[in-house]
Amino acid sequence: MNLEQWAAVDSYLNERLVQPDESLEQALARSAEAGLPPISVSPTQGKFLMMLARLQGARRILEIGTLGGYSTIWFAKALPADGRIITIESEPKHAEVARENIVAAGFGEIVDVRLGRALDVLPDIAAENVGPFDFSFIDADKPNIPQYFEWALRLSRSGSIIIVDNVIREGAVIDAESEDTSVQGVRRLNDLIAAEPRVTATTIQTVGSKGYDGFTIAVVK
Ligand code: SAH
Ligand code: DHB
Ligand code: MG
Repeated sequence: MNLEQWAAVDSYLNERLVQPDESLEQALARSAEAGLPPISVSPTQGKFLMMLARLQGARRILEIGTLGGYSTIWFAKALPADGRIITIESEPKHAEVARENIVAAGFGEIVDVRLGRALDVLPDIAAENVGPFDFSFIDADKPNIPQYFEWALRLSRSGSIIIVDNVIREGAVIDAESEDTSVQGVRRLNDLIAAEPRVTATTIQTVGSKGYDGFTIAVVK
């Protein structure tokens, strides 16, 4: 089993199960043209996030790590007309491409792209009293994952869902001695969750076009 096979199966699943969608495909194409890295969630993962947000009846979504807005557009598809997404991005070029993609997809009115480092922007969002958020997606720099999780929890309500992307890291997550600060970020998240009575959580390992990774899902009690 290897990446080529996982990617081929993802392609097959995309063809059969993920409906072709002009705005999502355009968002990926424009992001690539602008030189953004190809690290958006995969189509099957994006659709999964959209379905989860819809099942939960989410109206307010917080995303940390926008890139070109691909996952943001999937979330926007889950929302009712009065729904709202705040998505945080620290790279000006990424935020600009994301805004263009989001407007082109018809979601300019419901998505607010905030430019800045998440740890600087999150206190502003808390002060604005726009929460609680029904759903948070943590997908920015990995060393800060524990702090992002604390913020998401603080901005949640009972029943909110918090998803954290990229928590398996090709299996490196089990290496306690790892010098990779992303691995240590994920390990601290797991320690935090293990000691956090306010959430119920699990992690699912994944393979696909993005390799061997996984995501954590936490529900606020
Ligand atoms: N959620 C996107 C992918 C995000 S990639 C999708 O699936 O389509 C991670 C993004 O986080 C990058 O665009 C990167 O610039 C951004 N990022 C990195 N550090 C950050 C920080 N401290 N604050 C906000 N965004 C950050
Ligand atoms: C990277 C970031 C991601 O959010 C992801 O899903 C894959 C890779 C990265 O920074 O390399
Ligand atoms: Mg990710």
